[in-house]
Amino acid sequence: MHVHQNIFLKEYNTFRIGAYAKYFAQFRSVEELKVLLEIQKNTPSKLILGGGSNILFTQNYEGIILKNEIPGIDIIAEDENFVYIKAGAGVNWHNFVQYCVNHNFGGLENLSLIPGNVGATPMQNIGAYGVEIKDVFYELEAFHHEEKVIQKFTANDCEFGYRESIFKKNLKGQFVILNVTFRLNKKPVFHISYGAIEEELEKMHIKDLNIKAISNAVIHIRKSKLPDPELIGNAGSFFKNPVIGKRHFQETQQICELQKMDPPFFKIHEDLYKIPAGWLIEQCGWKGFRKKDAGCYEKQALVLVNYGNATGKDIFNLSEEIAISVKEKFGITLEREVNIV
Ligand code: FAD
Ligand code: EPU
Repeated sequence: MHVHQNIFLKEYNTFRIGAYAKYFAQFRSVEELKVLLEIQKNTPSKLILGGGSNILFTQNYEGIILKNEIPGIDIIAEDENFVYIKAGAGVNWHNFVQYCVNHNFGGLENLSLIPGNVGATPMQNIGAYGVEIKDVFYELEAFHHEEKVIQKFTANDCEFGYRESIFKKNLKGQFVILNVTFRLNKKPVFHISYGAIEEELEKMHIKDLNIKAISNAVIHIRKSKLPDPELIGNAGSFFKNPVIGKRHFQETQQICELQKMDPPFFKIHEDLYKIPAGWLIEQCGWKGFRKKDAGCYEKQALVLVNYGNATGKDIFNLSEEIAISVKEKFGITLEREVNIV
């Protein structure tokens, strides 16, 4: 455990932004974290980093970045139907999902291949292909920076929503998530109605459905749609899909009718509608757009990309232009999903 100075962050964020951190340290336990917080008590700003796959550095970081590398995967309890597995915040998410899939513990297979680490998954209640972690979340332990105590949070305490949790709202910046416990199914329940999963399974000629096959189908779909951060810098969806009320939705439909467009939508319930941000952005002409090294991905307009040497500001400015044009054309405000630093 060592505090480094002036660390280049390009390898620590999947947008591959070349910003610097004034101080940087890794920790593998809460004891190490406590020591680091003590050493750095006069450094005013602290940032906890996982895999860096949902973050955009728009400037150098003048405080200390603490990279959470707490390891460990442990089965802590089980009964006839469920297994309770605790994973350290620093465990790579996809490796953890594969561990569960290989043991036939069901619930995480639809969340295969999402980059990042276990500790960040509750932050925005990660989701994909019809499943969110709130569906299998049991509890987490987190350390309060100031009060120096470990607190347990149940799913209720976390206030999970669509790409939301209490850690992004009221408790923002206050806790370091140390570990997360999931309750997984020994008798898996399959979720294959979302999007292209069924189609993909058919192509794979799967006769006896199992969670490994679902995981493989999801991996295949994701690889065909999303840019691999190893090749093109990105942080997945840059914005959330907007969720709007019925009246606003009807107004949007009228705007679209006038322009001879038919917006795709998902009815959450009678009064709430979700419209794909990727569609809105594509209709504004941004898909495949590139300005210097900042771009809007050619296969998925919701993903902004760094073709090499874009700065965080280049990406952020592009996101501003995109959001303004969507607002002007459709009257819809896009909210960023990515954490801006
Ligand atoms: P980081 O980027 O390191 O951190 C994200 C935020 O959480 C930061 O604010 C950070 O300060 C905070 N944080 C991180 N760890 C901790 C901790 N232990 N305690 C307290 N705070 C912490 N997301 C989805 O939901 N669904 C998807 O399908 C999806 N697909 C993606 C595809 C690609 C190609 C990419 C690049 C990203 C995708 N994402 C997706 C976004 C991202 O992978 C997830 O949000 C992921 O959970 C972020 O994990 P991380 O460890 O990289 O977090
Ligand atoms: N679409 C377009 N043009 C585009 C992209 C999308 O028209 O360029 C429209 C299409 O109608 C498509 C619809 O948008 O059917 C939905 O697209 P897609 O299935 O690719 O999913 P998404 O809504 O863009 C969301 C999540 C992803 C998650 C996938 C799969 C958000 C913000 N994003 O994307 O999560 O992997 O669904 O479940 O909810 C992330 O959060 O980083 C992320 C990648």
